[in-house]
Amino acid sequence: MKALVSSLCAVIIFSGCVKKVGNKDVVFKDQILPIFVSNCTMSDCHNSLSKKHMINLTTYEGIMQGVVPRYPLLSEVYTNISGRNPSMPTKQYPKLSSKDVELIKLWINMGATNSTIDLPCDSSNVTFSGSVKPIFTTWCVGCHNTTNPGKGIDLTSYESTIASVNSGQLLGSIKHIGAFTPMPQNTDKLSDCDIAKIAKWIRQGAVNN
Ligand code: HEC
Repeated sequence: MKALVSSLCAVIIFSGCVKKVGNKDVVFKDQILPIFVSNCTMSDCHNSLSKKHMINLTTYEGIMQGVVPRYPLLSEVYTNISGRNPSMPTKQYPKLSSKDVELIKLWINMGATNSTIDLPCDSSNVTFSGSVKPIFTTWCVGCHNTTNPGKGIDLTSYESTIASVNSGQLLGSIKHIGAFTPMPQNTDKLSDCDIAKIAKWIRQGAVNN
């Protein structure tokens, strides 16, 4: 009975916390922003240091400079990444996946709002494959992959990640501590929930689970 009551409470609290974002909605902060941050904001590309004529893709306001809400075909950020020969990202970087391109199109079609969703943070069962790697895939691997490892750090697999964990660089950089370079580069910190999950995984021994 006690278990039933507490799980009912959990359901009620959970639904109370979620903003009205339906299944088909695209959440800017969690789904769209990381595509731009991880694929377009490297040095010399679209960050706050970009020269005047280049768009800054590290913030909502910056991205909106290239968006006409509801009209993807009039939106520079979409027309540059879509079609047979997209001009962006430039040749030395991998193309965006068609899934990411479609998601950006859908977000523009739906009005290109600055949407966020506040899910409760569940860091009870933290694993590398289920909790930590998906954060890297969303926010980091565009700049830290096998062909393009920023500062020699490749975050695409456990084996290639662990050295930066053991050196303290990984946690230092995502927590914006002291002399470490703040990550993800050129944009806001990860959410407290994502940082808590990574910190807990490290505290529990940073195993390959
Ligand atoms: C836009 C590209 C970009 C993104 C996105 C990015 N990084 Fe980096 N990262 C870099 C570059 C470039 C460097 C080297 C910076 C330097 O040496 O000044 C770096 C350095 C680092 C370092 C070494 C820091 C230090 O002080 O030694 C770590 C650790 C790191 N990144 C982890 C991450 C993680 C984790 C994420 C995702 C949460 C991430 N990065 C996202 C480009 C990026």
